[in-house]
Amino acid sequence: MIIQFLSHSTCLLKIDKFYLLIDPFLSKNPIFKNNDYHKYFNNIDVIHYILVSHAHFDHVCDVEYFAKKYHSTIISNYEISMFFEKKGLITYGINYGAFINFPFGKIKYIWATHSSVFNDGTYGGNPGGFLLSTIDKKNIYFAGDTALHYDMMLLPRFVTLDLSILPIGGRYTMDYEEAIIAAELLKSNKILGVHYNTFSDIKIDNKIVKNQFLKKGIKLFLLKTGEKILI
Ligand code: NI
Ligand code: MN
Repeated sequence: MIIQFLSHSTCLLKIDKFYLLIDPFLSKNPIFKNNDYHKYFNNIDVIHYILVSHAHFDHVCDVEYFAKKYHSTIISNYEISMFFEKKGLITYGINYGAFINFPFGKIKYIWATHSSVFNDGTYGGNPGGFLLSTIDKKNIYFAGDTALHYDMMLLPRFVTLDLSILPIGGRYTMDYEEAIIAAELLKSNKILGVHYNTFSDIKIDNKIVKNQFLKKGIKLFLLKTGEKILI
């Protein structure tokens, strides 16, 4: 699996021949000037699925644009799925519970301690994250926006995680110190940090944070925009 970090919580996954985009926040993202994020999609003919963790604007901003352009199937909770279905988009609503099979592997929707509402006030269901067990034999957890919570302890009972994608910026989510505890609960020694440095109120010192993880024997990836890792 290749994971490309596109800033904030936006990640583009390549799993075998499938492309999955998670929580697209690009067109209104202050990181990008003159919409220069388009270059990351130049060589992509199809995005098969768009995963949406919750309804906050910094996660759903460009769902409609990409879903229309690439005829993607939107996978999210029931309420978010209904919201986009009413716009004529293809959706697949899920909720907390069992693994659900897709051509790229299976997904379980995981509790997130957060909130979920669209900018127009539409209820966005319960917020979540995604546990993915893929056809290329990798297990990853995308936590979404969440505080630390004990449900994370359940995940190692389902899979051995190759990577966890955790928010580390604080204020609206876990900060990095809580993310270290999360990594321990998840038994996950590789973490991709997201949801930091996009705005002034979620700034971190990359060097200090990386060292704190290292002290606990956990590898923290802090990728540049557009940078990829192979797991
Ligand atoms: Ni949020
Ligand atoms: Mn957010």
